[in-house]
Amino acid sequence: MAFSQEFIEKVREASNLVDEVSQFTELKRAGSQLTGLCPFPSHNEKTASFSVSESKQVYHCFGCKKSGNIFNFLQELRGFNFPEAIEYLAQKASIPIPIEDNTKPFSSESKNAKKTLLAINKMAGEYYHLQLKKHYSNPAIQQFLSSRGLTKDIIKTFHLGFSTSSWSGLLDHLRSRGVSLKLIEQLGLIKKSKKTGDYFDLYRERIMFPILNPMGDWIGFGGRVLDQSLPKYINSSESEIFNKSKTLYGLDETAKHIRTKDEAIIVEGYMDHIALYKSGIKNAVATLGTALTPSHAKMLKRLCKKVIVLFDGDSAGRSAAERSLSILLSEGLLVHGLFLPNKVDPDDFINENGKDALIQKIESAPDLFYLIIDAYLTDYSGQPSEQVTILRKTVPILSTVSDPVLFDIYKNEVSQRLKLDPQTINKAIASYKKERQRGLSNHPSPSSPPLPTQNKANNFKYIDKVVVKNPPPAEKLLLNIALMKSSYFTQILESGILEHFSHQEVRKIFSKAEQTYRQMPNKFDNLTALLGSYVEPQNLLTMQFGPPLLNAQEEDVQKMIVDCQQKIKEVTLKNLVEKTKAKFGKTDGSDQLQELERIMNIYKDKHNLRNQKKPQS
Ligand code: UTP
Ligand code: MN
Repeated sequence: MAFSQEFIEKVREASNLVDEVSQFTELKRAGSQLTGLCPFPSHNEKTASFSVSESKQVYHCFGCKKSGNIFNFLQELRGFNFPEAIEYLAQKASIPIPIEDNTKPFSSESKNAKKTLLAINKMAGEYYHLQLKKHYSNPAIQQFLSSRGLTKDIIKTFHLGFSTSSWSGLLDHLRSRGVSLKLIEQLGLIKKSKKTGDYFDLYRERIMFPILNPMGDWIGFGGRVLDQSLPKYINSSESEIFNKSKTLYGLDETAKHIRTKDEAIIVEGYMDHIALYKSGIKNAVATLGTALTPSHAKMLKRLCKKVIVLFDGDSAGRSAAERSLSILLSEGLLVHGLFLPNKVDPDDFINENGKDALIQKIESAPDLFYLIIDAYLTDYSGQPSEQVTILRKTVPILSTVSDPVLFDIYKNEVSQRLKLDPQTINKAIASYKKERQRGLSNHPSPSSPPLPTQNKANNFKYIDKVVVKNPPPAEKLLLNIALMKSSYFTQILESGILEHFSHQEVRKIFSKAEQTYRQMPNKFDNLTALLGSYVEPQNLLTMQFGPPLLNAQEEDVQKMIVDCQQKIKEVTLKNLVEKTKAKFGKTDGSDQLQELERIMNIYKDKHNLRNQKKPQS
């Protein structure tokens, strides 16, 4: 999927950064800007250090130094990738996503097919939701809902539904709306009877849990029986739109809470997640009865630094937690763990002990690695054979820790608990890694934890970004002044100073700006956010939020412009003199003369500038 730059711009223009930010933090007007507490969780603050420029559509935080336009904001705060951010905004603004046919693997056909499937799923979800409302007072349903504390509010928030005992309720409903059998079958909502060849509803007499992704797409369902019959849950089959290993249940509702708390609680199922939510613990997600995957860990890493694994205390839960530990650690997350007593799930626990008891337990959940070592050490008596056995189990986990400080802390802990020299542990890790490498190249073993993977942030390349490293301060300031007002912009361009810029990249940004401004001179304010899509780092463009530009008067700015121009020319001059010195002797007289003339002109220029400045100061 590749979007054209025009399309990306169209979407950006149709969107409002203030709306997006306001969903996370309260903004108050302060002069030309809106300010509030920083919505990013990387620092805790009590005073507002986050600013948004409504006219320029960019933000900046003085605390955590994050800056950017609306795309950066969504990517960082909601955990979207770039295409997701665009799709999300396009959908919000009702801009149809263009269909392109040149990119084979993401053909328009498959893209449209995906959209169609999502739409059918949503239709189905709404149908189930309506059925739940209709049959709400049915005793079996009532009994289930009330025993599990599924209030009307929860039903609404999680779009819960009910599939009736009818063999064709959903089928008839969707058919009457013109949906093809093939597609309904593809979604796993109906099945074909082997005997009669007729289609029938797969979900019957089940409480339906729709699964939404962070973009709000209805990607699948889990359906739970009302009684003890089996299977307890039926989940949507894997399809083009549903991939369990990349899905975290509840994330659509809870991403923002995870962001703000900088912490996520991972539970095992639908009901656990909802139990936490209704107790006010809203920073949770659930895996769907599958093992935690690296994709899950990556999704969480985009939102927070710390996770708490809250699993069942039985042996299955414990070994699931152990397996997830390596995956989470290799993403660089800090991992805590909490095991509830065997066969007690969060729901039971809350019912028995109250929600505060659970909150207290979650808040004091210890480091999961320590918990696991503790478990290894039950009945430990310090025999060498035990030391070796435990070290063998510990090393694979240790070797996935990507945070070097955490690695040292863990290693020291192991060394102390097992009374082993750190060097011994280092050796064990080195030989484990060697073995793994050999094993990987011969026959990859799926049971062992993955080696730390390199973070490939985004495989898609949409825009060739200009990466600006160490721009000269004067060039950076001039760029930011130019973006303040169109009069400054034209003044700076017309002064011809650009050709003296020593930093190629800053010059590139200027010409991109100029080119864009020419195309739409009446939309000057758009420039900053637009350039934001092309520039890295983002804070190159957001000097407007602080001194010396914030609240600068015309007169101050004019002084700054002159200052910058002078500094830039001084550098040019220095370079030129150096170059010319090197050149002398290699060229003939006329060339030398020309060079000298250029130098003279620049000197003159510089002199003029100085004189211009003097009377003012
Ligand atoms: P649990 O058995 O712990 O279910 O399985 P639960 O969500 O806590 O439900 P209650 O409390 O018994 O009502 C955890 C998760 O494993 C998946 C589901 O995603 C479930 O939420 N699972 C479980 C299935 O997919 N199929 C099953 O038959 C059972
Ligand atoms: Mn449960």
